[in-house]
Amino acid sequence: MKKLVILISGRGSNMEAIVRAAIPGAMIAAVIANKPAAAGLDFARSQGIEARVVDHTGYPTRDAFDEALATEIDRHSPDLVVLAGFMRVLGDDFVRRYEGRMINIHPSLLPSFPGLHTHRKAIEAGVRLHGATVHFVTPTLDCGPIIAQAAVAVGADDTEASLAEKVLAQEHIIYPQAVRWFVEGRLRLDGNRVTVSDACLPGEGWVVPQPDA
Ligand code: GRF
Repeated sequence: MKKLVILISGRGSNMEAIVRAAIPGAMIAAVIANKPAAAGLDFARSQGIEARVVDHTGYPTRDAFDEALATEIDRHSPDLVVLAGFMRVLGDDFVRRYEGRMINIHPSLLPSFPGLHTHRKAIEAGVRLHGATVHFVTPTLDCGPIIAQAAVAVGADDTEASLAEKVLAQEHIIYPQAVRWFVEGRLRLDGNRVTVSDACLPGEGWVVPQPDA
């Protein structure tokens, strides 16, 4: 069994998608939020998963928060730390501690649009394709080796909200898939490139096409 700890800050729909995927060989040891009001905590508890809060407002410095968070994570000795809508920037030491075993989902086709407000930026830039990326976490924000991406078409009528909804539906497909690959030991890191052995998806293996409407 591979142990997973999932970090959230709010709604937790990606965490929910991973839990609902019931990935063989994966055990969700805990869900940890940095906000007591994170709605996803209730879902985790309803599934019998240990749900904890490490409230960042209770720590005087970023380092102190990172240390407390790492202590809580390490209680579970996870094989994989999954950032699922976790909205705190983590310090370099924290990131290095989990290097190669911490992944994130970002709502854009990286390296386009790192940071916040990705859907707005995509519309403003006039791109025809937008999407989501699952990547290993490295000290540079939204910049680590890419594991999976999904693209959606940007329609002329799309708003920030409608685009976010389309992208989120894809996130809920590729994130559980990427976690499954990790759990099955199929991911290989070679410099900044990730290969997936025997990927059983259509297309190129690490690009998930948008399903037909
Ligand atoms: C997702 O769009 C994720 O890509 C981004 O924040 C959002 C979190 O949504 N990092 P949820 O909490 O998983 O519902």
